[in-house]
Amino acid sequence: MMDGNTGKRWADVLAPIWNRLPPRLRESLRRRLRNTAAPEALPEELRQRLNAVGFSTSTPDTSPAIYECFAALADTGVQGDYYEFGLWQGYSFCVAQAAAVSAGATQPQFFGFDSFAGLPPLSGPDAQSDEFKAGDYAGSYDEVVSNLNRFGVDWERTHLIKGWYDDLPESAAHLATKMGPAALVLVDCDLYESTVPVLRFVRDRLQPGTIVMFDDWNCFDQSDDMGQRRAFGEFLDQNPAWKAAPLLSFGWHGQAFTMQPATSQEEDRLRSLT
Ligand SMILES: C[S@@+](CC[C@H](N)C(=O)[O-])C[C@H]1O[C@@H](n2cnc3c(N)ncnc32)[C@H](O)[C@@H]1O
Repeated sequence: MMDGNTGKRWADVLAPIWNRLPPRLRESLRRRLRNTAAPEALPEELRQRLNAVGFSTSTPDTSPAIYECFAALADTGVQGDYYEFGLWQGYSFCVAQAAAVSAGATQPQFFGFDSFAGLPPLSGPDAQSDEFKAGDYAGSYDEVVSNLNRFGVDWERTHLIKGWYDDLPESAAHLATKMGPAALVLVDCDLYESTVPVLRFVRDRLQPGTIVMFDDWNCFDQSDDMGQRRAFGEFLDQNPAWKAAPLLSFGWHGQAFTMQPATSQEEDRLRSLT
């Protein structure tokens, strides 16, 4: 069982220090961290499987958080599919499948979306930042398929969608009938301009209790005017039917929310007053 409070305390301590480092130093450190072995917080059998593939990830703390989120879904009884936006080598996507099985969720379909060409050119509010650049995390579709094969995903339940998020939902149209309500969504695509179309696509798949994880919540010096914070803020403003309750923070970078219809939150609040 993960100790979410310990993870949160570390994140609280490290985030201000990390955010004060110059962006170039942060990027250099981030690149080094990509080659770390699978985190010790994960089950040993899974660590061995991940290490055998030879995977890298820039954010090792995301994987234990995925475990925590699937455990939270088992507690609340929310069922549905897994959607991941931003695969890079497929690391967190594979972890999600193992985490679902570990939580007893054998029914989800797993949908992974990526350009497989890395980040798009930076534009909009993030354009002046040197935290990310076009082509970061470039890989290839075949490489990810090979990684997923070596890991041993269940292809009956696994679907990869290649394309830029601006082209959603057209690029996913062939799978539309398979895509059910979302139980867990991992938004790991770094940028404002990438997160906006992702949230627009996810909106119609939200259900009460869907968990949305933002892997890059604290990027851009935690600015509310850039990146995922800005995109999600705008999304909530434009979709007043939905409210987001903070669920857990992970690493120096990530934040997960539980989505609830605004009315039910208001009903809960009123009930708690009586
Ligand atoms: C940080 S990496 C994902 C890391 C991964 N989840 C892991 O386990 O290590 C970000 C990914 O988002 C993808 N991406 C970002 N913006 C995109 C866009 N607009 N359209 C398609 N893919 C995008 C990139 O290609 C890249 O693979």
